[in-house]
Amino acid sequence: MIKLNNIYKYFFADTPNEVVALNNINLNIKEGDFVTVIGSNGAGKSTLLKAIAGVEMVDQGIIELAGKDVTSQPEHKRAREIGRIDQDPMASTASDMTIEENLAMAYMRGRRRGLLRAVTGGRTKRFKEVVADVGLGLENRLQVPVGTLSGGQRQALALVMATIAQPKLLLLDEHTAALDPKAAKQIMEITRKIVDTKKLTTLMITHNMEQAIKFGTRLIMMHRGEIILDINQQEKEKLTVPQLIEKFTNTSGTTFDDDRVLLAN
Ligand SMILES: Nc1ncnc2c1ncn2[C@@H]1O[C@H](COP(=O)(O)OP(=O)(O)OP(=O)(O)O)[C@@H](O)[C@H]1O
Ligand SMILES: [Mg+2]
Repeated sequence: MIKLNNIYKYFFADTPNEVVALNNINLNIKEGDFVTVIGSNGAGKSTLLKAIAGVEMVDQGIIELAGKDVTSQPEHKRAREIGRIDQDPMASTASDMTIEENLAMAYMRGRRRGLLRAVTGGRTKRFKEVVADVGLGLENRLQVPVGTLSGGQRQALALVMATIAQPKLLLLDEHTAALDPKAAKQIMEITRKIVDTKKLTTLMITHNMEQAIKFGTRLIMMHRGEIILDINQQEKEKLTVPQLIEKFTNTSGTTFDDDRVLLAN
């Protein structure tokens, strides 16, 4: 479904401050896979997702999405096939627009018709159904500005928006990190449900090792721009957090010192 071949991404190339954010990444993700991504601070996780989404252009290598070379395709073109959320609940939804308008906008991203047609006719009914599915009562508040929702409700809406046009790929960058533990748990359950029912190929960055082990069908760990661990479902099912930390230490040759990851619950 998504293939990355020999991907390199540099920041401040050819200067003393050069950063190799992605250092020869090779990754092949099958249709229906739900990959969790974990790694130390600055490992290149967000850059990896941005490279796939076309938010950052890569310096070398090839990215294929569903058999098509999208390496030089701009973000807005890839957005028709890629749903994406990041950790800031403000970023993925428009505050002063209503829930319904946000949904219509998201729906249009996958299509190419005008916004107006999206909010007319049977759409409202359809939007009601999709937000009712997340179980937060948002279906009765379609005309309410999104700015009045809680962070968790906004991320739930963002998830619905990111997946409403049945994307080929869903990219989640620590989408529960800014939420309180209860809301984070709720959003993870909603994520699991949406990914399962829509059978979405998904890449999810998390700084929570337990979450990385518990969810998904495959786990990759990044360190200094490289994928240093790639763990399949079978192995992941038996894995514990201390074992994952030990694997990291053995493979990277350094101790895991990112407190945000180690202290996450
Ligand atoms: N736009 C940018 N300009 C310059 N350097 C950048 C940019 N984006 C990322 N970097 C650098 O690239 C490296 C990888 O960053 P990235 O954000 O991908 O890490 P990450 O694994 O997501 O880290 P975190 O856990 O902190 O979110 C870091 O050294 C970072 O400082
Ligand atoms: Mg990041």
